[in-house]
Amino acid sequence: MNHMDSVIAIDGPAGSGKSTVAREIAKILGIHYLDSGAFYRTLTLAVFKYYKASGSEQVFADWVAEKQNILPLDQWLIRLDFGHGDENKLFLNSEDVTNQIRTPEITEKIKYIADKQIFRDFVNERIRVLARDNKLVMDGRDIGTEVFPNSRNKFFLTASPEVRAKRRMDELISKKIPADWEEVYSEMVKRDDSDRNRKIAPLLAAKDAILIDTDSLSIKLVIETILSRILESKS
Ligand code: CDP
Repeated sequence: MNHMDSVIAIDGPAGSGKSTVAREIAKILGIHYLDSGAFYRTLTLAVFKYYKASGSEQVFADWVAEKQNILPLDQWLIRLDFGHGDENKLFLNSEDVTNQIRTPEITEKIKYIADKQIFRDFVNERIRVLARDNKLVMDGRDIGTEVFPNSRNKFFLTASPEVRAKRRMDELISKKIPADWEEVYSEMVKRDDSDRNRKIAPLLAAKDAILIDTDSLSIKLVIETILSRILESKS
């Protein structure tokens, strides 16, 4: 399949609204939504389960750095099911880990996985296989820059840290998960920092991406803006 038209890439930092927007657009266009972050989350879970030991975060970080080339990556069967509702379902060796990958314990460890080429290659290979046979809307950090740089439909959503943390708070509250403003805000700023500043595939807008500042735009308007640009690019 020619990725110029078959992949719609929506990148941006946490809380920029990209997953809500990507899901809606997929629904409107009648194509699948792919959550690339869910792959990184599942791979992080696989590495962490394999690690088994306890210890400080630094001990885990050092262990991953040391072992990255000898981990049994080919034994970890990670499968993404597009799902029938809104959310992708993720399986690790046939176990449904869709909820497990969202815990703070996993979220805080992703950075030690996402900054290494061997793990990024593992994820990208799986994403590209899914894109071979499906038209997709994907959200992530590097879809427009690294995974599908030749896609014609690239968007980069931004918003201030305050607005993004507020959205994340609302999301947690709606899921009845206890949420503390200071914690949510500082976790978000920390993750932005590690995503933006890593050497490999950092969070970055592609040169030809359309930037959308979502601070004062409703989700509906963001979706309309993206859809109209997609239509324009086809004509
Ligand atoms: O919490 P949120 O939905 O914003 O994040 P996510 O999309 O689930 O991604 C979790 C983490 O995975 C990010 O903070 C990145 O470190 C990493 N990631 C990445 O490096 N590249 C991607 N294409 C997607 C996610």
